[in-house]
Amino acid sequence: MDPKIDVRTESSSMPSSIRTKEGDQWNSKPVSYKMYSKSAQIRLVSSHPEVYEPCDDSFALVDALLADRTNLLEHHPSLCMEVGCGSGYVITSLAIMLGQEVAGVHYIATDINPHAVQVTSETLKAHGVHAEVISTDIASGLERRLSGIVDVMVVNPPYVPTPEDEVGRDGITSAWAGGENGRRVIDRILPIADKLLSDRGWLYMVMLAANNPSQICLAMREKGYASRIIVQRSTEEESLHVVKFWRDSDIQVGAREPTTTSRTTSTTVMESLFSQFPRLAFWRNDNNSY
Ligand SMILES: C[S@@+](CC[C@H](N)C(=O)[O-])C[C@H]1O[C@@H](n2cnc3c(N)ncnc32)[C@H](O)[C@@H]1O
Repeated sequence: MDPKIDVRTESSSMPSSIRTKEGDQWNSKPVSYKMYSKSAQIRLVSSHPEVYEPCDDSFALVDALLADRTNLLEHHPSLCMEVGCGSGYVITSLAIMLGQEVAGVHYIATDINPHAVQVTSETLKAHGVHAEVISTDIASGLERRLSGIVDVMVVNPPYVPTPEDEVGRDGITSAWAGGENGRRVIDRILPIADKLLSDRGWLYMVMLAANNPSQICLAMREKGYASRIIVQRSTEEESLHVVKFWRDSDIQVGAREPTTTSRTTSTTVMESLFSQFPRLAFWRNDNNSY
């Protein structure tokens, strides 16, 4: 793999050099910045055949974080968590993105695949940032410690509709196998996210049109969360959404509809989703077209 790293961001607050690995040697190299781009690319220094390599969905998630970066900086998160970190591309990008502008942030990343933990640790180290990386099923064993204190959670889950028996298999299959409607792992993550997120916590999650995003938003609305699409990209193969969720005191927990309107739930949720279209990214062959 090419050891060079290229970080492209909207910001000038990134470190001016970055550590890369060539063979067994760690080197410091200047980082090339291309300003005003809305795409961040980190060329990884570590990989493993059974670990998911960053792909369109990973890029969409990082682009969503970049698009929301100003809000993230103002949010001043204390604890950021990634569930299913794979190569470490997303958590590393987030840590670089928040950088020195938000001091004292603690990062935690989990993955069910132990190889992913190793690769993520190497990627973080290569970029000079730190996260606690834990091999576990979603957040198993961490619930008590992290209950109600995660300010930002990012998830690119296994979302591909597959036969049920492919879910939870060892190795690379666990990276994409999502069972019926691709929802098996997503539907397990959502209630855990609800427990771990702080009152001001934000969740960014990648999902496919096939996962029925409006139904996911409705399920989260019942837990008191508002939602908005930050990025939407259509490729020839799939229609990806990155949706942000946050607790909204105007939404009654358990209520399927806002109390202020008599419109149907499905209308309301779809409007909530698609009213964001002016901000959406329609991706064809160009990563930067917003
Ligand atoms: C689509 S990949 C995303 C990897 C990385 N976040 C990215 O965006 O490139 C999904 C990741 O979730 C992990 N995963 C699958 N099921 C999991 C579970 N139950 N708990 C934790 N991680 C899981 C997989 O091992 C894989 O690394």
